[in-house]
Amino acid sequence: MGTMSATLPDCLQGERIELTPLQIVNIHQHLAWNNDPELNYLDSEVPYQKETFGAFKERFERMVFRPSPSLRDFEIHAEDGTLIGVAFVTQISRHNRHCSVGVTIGNRDYWGRGYGRASMAVLLDYCFNCLEMHRVGAETFEYNTAWKNLVLGMGFRPEGIERDYLYRDGQYWDKEIFSMLEAEYRQAGHERHERREAA
Ligand SMILES: CC(C)(COP(=O)(O)OP(=O)(O)OC[C@H]1O[C@@H](n2cnc3c(N)ncnc32)[C@H](O)[C@@H]1OP(=O)(O)O)[C@@H](O)C(=O)NCCC(=O)NCCS
Repeated sequence: MGTMSATLPDCLQGERIELTPLQIVNIHQHLAWNNDPELNYLDSEVPYQKETFGAFKERFERMVFRPSPSLRDFEIHAEDGTLIGVAFVTQISRHNRHCSVGVTIGNRDYWGRGYGRASMAVLLDYCFNCLEMHRVGAETFEYNTAWKNLVLGMGFRPEGIERDYLYRDGQYWDKEIFSMLEAEYRQAGHERHERREAA
């Protein structure tokens, strides 16, 4: 695993991936993913617009050095040390003990190889065991089959839809909402999920 290991709590480490804080030295990789139209189509409701290095740098430095207390952004590093994507916990409410999560494997060479699921397993571990959340939410646009299958496969339950939430390609699309409660997480034995997969 990467060199950050010693400074991070155990709950940000999986067998196959490691989540680290965003690192300023990786800004060019993050800019490339930020400016990737396909990734934007799948994971962002903001219409695609290429960002200049200067504008992105300002925003990225804020994310690295002055992050919002209700948000945690991470880099995903594969076991071979490659930076393969980003993961986040957002809308963290300490009082209500809820938050929302997302994963983007920006490096397409790593799609379909279990890294999305492995990243989600570490995020869930972090949310339930470190942040002591009661409810973890996830959402997707109706056309994002991969993400929908991933969250359902991890045991999230569908909660409903926000109809015609997104306007894209000249038409409206629903946003679908999923969640997992702490009791469901413990019942499903997720703590062992990633270890089984890696065995
Ligand atoms: C969605 C995403 C994170 C999945 O990551 P991944 O590493 O490719 O997925 P995994 O290999 O871990 O697969 C886990 C499950 O996801 C589902 N899945 C992944 N790719 C899929 C595809 N192309 N079609 C359908 N289902 C798919 C499957 O259920 C799969 O389980 P299975 O292998 O047992 O069938 C990745 O495709 C991605 O980063 N997409 C762009 C950004 C995005 O959409 N992020 C989500 C919103 S924040």
